[in-house]
Amino acid sequence: MLDEIGGSVDWQGLDAAYHLHPFTDHKSLHESKVRVITSAEGVFLHDAAGHKILDGMAGLWCVATGYSRRELVEAATTQMAKLPYYNTFFKTTTQPTVALAQRLAQIAPEGLNHAFFACSGSEAVDTALRMARVYWQTLGQPNKKIIIGREYGYHGSTTLGASAGGMVDMHRQAGDMPNFVQVMPPYWYGYGGQMSPAEFGIYAALQVESKIKELGAENIAAFIGEPLQGAGGVIIPPETYWPEINRICKEHDILLIADEVICGFGRTGKMFGSDTFGIKPDMMTMAKAITSGYIPLSAVMLHDRVADVLINETGEFYHGFTYSGHPVACAVALANLDIIAQEGLVQRAEALGVIIRQKLHAALDNHPMVGEIRGVGLIGAIELTADKRSRKFFEKRGRVGVICRDYCFENDLMMRAVRDTMVFSPPLTIALDEIDLLVTRLSQAIAQTYEQVKAEVAL
Ligand SMILES: Cc1ncc(COP(=O)(O)O)c(C=O)c1O
Repeated sequence: MLDEIGGSVDWQGLDAAYHLHPFTDHKSLHESKVRVITSAEGVFLHDAAGHKILDGMAGLWCVATGYSRRELVEAATTQMAKLPYYNTFFKTTTQPTVALAQRLAQIAPEGLNHAFFACSGSEAVDTALRMARVYWQTLGQPNKKIIIGREYGYHGSTTLGASAGGMVDMHRQAGDMPNFVQVMPPYWYGYGGQMSPAEFGIYAALQVESKIKELGAENIAAFIGEPLQGAGGVIIPPETYWPEINRICKEHDILLIADEVICGFGRTGKMFGSDTFGIKPDMMTMAKAITSGYIPLSAVMLHDRVADVLINETGEFYHGFTYSGHPVACAVALANLDIIAQEGLVQRAEALGVIIRQKLHAALDNHPMVGEIRGVGLIGAIELTADKRSRKFFEKRGRVGVICRDYCFENDLMMRAVRDTMVFSPPLTIALDEIDLLVTRLSQAIAQTYEQVKAEVAL
């Protein structure tokens, strides 16, 4: 048992020797040493060095119902004892798989009634992109292959997902398949200039239409976008953006894929980001909070109009995963969705979102390095800026964000820095006094960062 030998084992050394981490520069990780997380409860993590850390990121945006939920552990163990695994390939299914598909159809936006299961957000995206192309092939339009995504979009780490996303470093490292293009994100703070947010929302949406005209709608399969761009820095689109995207996709006969991997299951204060922003998707990808991260699971939800073609006309879709519809993962998802419903976590996210932003504004509005505080539901961002009035970025982008993130660590707060934007996304179960703690620790980290940056400039 790990616990029994935990005390005497050099976990950091072994990690450096044997373990490769995702999205990590290993040389610098080994210099600074990895944190060993040993246990968690509620919104707190414990590490091997004895720290109790407030998790402002819900793991990786996923632990919606909080850590240490007995209900999820029991759902997993009960299902494991009964049927630990069976596949859904051989004209077979399992009861939790069917029950979850039905539940998702009940809570998803209208018309999204068919679920295809996978294990990660990346696999869900990969599945949706292949489905989009197969849909058009089936309809006799095989040239409709191009996928339009957005700069700073994140759609996972498979080769298709990396190509659809707008992360240039991922494109550089074998993540740039043909037939993927990106347009500007609806990032008013960064790109809005003198336009009002409403004007900019339309402007950014029209970039999609220009791209469609440039490439020809007859060559384009789908537009994919996160309702709000999480990993890109919690870029929240102006209200005008998505209605215009709905219109553009419909008019040009292009499928609209909403990547709900972060937004799904209450994060934005409604069940889905599509509900919050009025998106009318043909397909939706979901993962993360579907099981609160307790076990890997993802899904693609298809609208009847797409499913009808794939079910009745395509024949076999040559795609799927050994663990598609895994009974244990589906049982955990069902128990997790029960908690979300019973504890009113979606409404709670909406209400607590208002409170957390009020508190952040009160604590940080006057800070010279804070350019913008934004959020919706229980997800948000704080832009650190070199000049508050002109919304100027720091010269070496990303450095100040990392300094601040490290001060957060020092203050026992887990936060993420995206460039110089501090992002947060705590468990939806966070209590009011824990919100106070988050705001206090973050404010402290920002003050420390400011002192350091100021001192460097003065040198
Ligand atoms: C919007 C979005 N799509 C896809 C993914 C990929 O999910 P996963 O890491 O589970 O493959 C992520 C991960 O953060 C995401 O934020």
